[in-house]
Amino acid sequence: MPQTVLVIPMTELLRYEKLASELEGMIADGALRHGDRLPSVRRLSQERRLSVSTVLQALRQMESRGLVEARPQSGYFVRRAMASHAEPSVRSTPDEPVPVDVSQRLVRVLKAGMRSGVAPLAAALPAPQLLPLAALHRLYAGVARRHPKLLEGGSHINMDEPALVRQLVRRSLAWGGPLAGDEIVITNSCTEALSLCLRAVTKPGDTVAVESPAYYLMLQLLETLGLKALEIPTDPRLGMSVEALDLATRDGKIAACLLVPNASNPLGSVMPDDKKRLLAALTAARGVAVIEDDIYGDLHFGQQRPWPLKAFDTTGNVMLCSSFSKILTPAMRIGFVAAGRYRAAIALQKTITSGGTNPITQHVLAEYLDSSAYERHLRQLRRSYEGQVDSMRAAVSRYFPAATRIAQPQGGFVLWVELPEDLDATMIYERAIAENLAYVPGELFSASGMYRNCLRLNCGNPHTPEIEDAVRRLGAVISRP
Ligand SMILES: Cc1ncc(COP(=O)(O)O)c(C=O)c1O
Repeated sequence: MPQTVLVIPMTELLRYEKLASELEGMIADGALRHGDRLPSVRRLSQERRLSVSTVLQALRQMESRGLVEARPQSGYFVRRAMASHAEPSVRSTPDEPVPVDVSQRLVRVLKAGMRSGVAPLAAALPAPQLLPLAALHRLYAGVARRHPKLLEGGSHINMDEPALVRQLVRRSLAWGGPLAGDEIVITNSCTEALSLCLRAVTKPGDTVAVESPAYYLMLQLLETLGLKALEIPTDPRLGMSVEALDLATRDGKIAACLLVPNASNPLGSVMPDDKKRLLAALTAARGVAVIEDDIYGDLHFGQQRPWPLKAFDTTGNVMLCSSFSKILTPAMRIGFVAAGRYRAAIALQKTITSGGTNPITQHVLAEYLDSSAYERHLRQLRRSYEGQVDSMRAAVSRYFPAATRIAQPQGGFVLWVELPEDLDATMIYERAIAENLAYVPGELFSASGMYRNCLRLNCGNPHTPEIEDAVRRLGAVISRP
C-alpha cells in the first residue's frame, strides 16, 4: 500500500474558513440580518489583508451553505436568518474500528415510527403531496402502452436502458464534469447501489471509514456484510474531517471510505470543494476506495448545486451512488452508481444480486427527466424542504430545553438535534413513542454507541399545525424530569 503523506495547505484552508465563520457568527448574532449587504470583496480584502480569491472563497462557501447570495453588480447579501441556537459540537471518535450492531434496534424504531397515528418525525420520507405522483402515474400508463415489448425482456446481463443512462449523463453536466455513460450501472435504489459498491471493494472483516454521526442504513450495510466501522469526526457544516481521515489511513488498514459529502444525513453538512479535492487525492494515493452517496446533492439550499466528490476524482476511484427516492418517490426504487474503475466488479455484483432494474420504471424516469417538468419540480421541492427545515428548527428552538444545539442543514430534509449532556434520547424515546411521538435516537447513527444525547427529526412534511404540536409535545416529553 503506498504511504504517501498528504501535504495539506492548512494555512490557506484556514484563512477563508476563518473569515466565513466570522461572517456567519455575525449573521447568527443578528449583527447582519436577512437582506443586509455584506462588505464588498475589495473592502474585506483590504481590511482583512486577504487576497481577493481568499475572500471570494469564503463568500462562495457561505453561498453554497445558503447563507448569502450573490446579486449581479450589487455584491453579497444575507439570505436567511439563522436561529440563535448553537450548532452541535464535533465529537472525537474511537481510534479503533468496531463491529456494528444497530440493525435490531433500528428496525424496531422505524417500524414503530410508521404506525398509524404516530407523528412522522422518524424515517426520512417526503410527504406524498410534495411529489409529482399524478405525472408519474400518467407516465407509467403511457410507457406500458407505448412499449409493450418491455415486459418481454428477460436478460440478466444488460438491462440498463440507454435512454436513462443518457439522461443521467446530461444531468451530471452541472456537477463539475459529466459522468461517463459506460461507468453507470442502474440499480434498484441508492441502498442497492451502496450495497453493490461495498461488496465490490471489501471482504468480511475489512474496515470502512464512515462519518460520525453516519446514516444508520450505512451502518446496517456494514453490519450485514461483516465489516467494521471506523468513525471519523465530522463537522456539522464542513463534513468529514480530512485531517482525521489522513491519520486513519496511514497504516493501510482502511479498505473503503463511505460518506455523504453533500447535505449529509443526519448533519446536513456540505463539504467545501477544497476538502473534497483533498479527500479525493488522499484516498487515491492511499488505495482507499471511495463510495460517495450523493442522494441529497440536488436538494441543496444554496444557489449553486454543490459538486460531488466525483468531480475531483482523477483516477476513477470514486463510486457515486444516488437515487430519485427523495425527489420523485421512494416507491420507484430506482437509483444508479457511476462506478469509475470499479464498473466491472459492480456490474457483476448487480447481475448476481438482482439481474437488472425494472425496464418500465427506467423508461418512466428517462421520460420524466427529459421533460421540463423535472427542473420545475426540483426547484419547488428545494424551496419546500428548505422552508420545512427552517420551520422545524424554529419549533425545536421554541420547545426543547434551552441548552439544546441544533444543526443548520445546507440541504436535504433531516434535522440533527443535540440535547443537553445529561439527557438520554434512547431512554426518552420509550416515553415519546408511548405518546405517539417518534424520532430516531442519536446512538443509532454511531457504531460505537456515541450520541446518546442526540436525535434526528424528519422534516419531509409540510410544517402544519399538527407537526408544530407534535414538536411541542416532544419538547414537553424531553423536558419532563
Ligand atoms: C443518505 C441516504 N442514502 C440513501 C438513502 C436511501 O435511498 P433509497 O430509497 O434510494 O434506497 C437515504 C434515505 O433516507 C439516505 O438518507
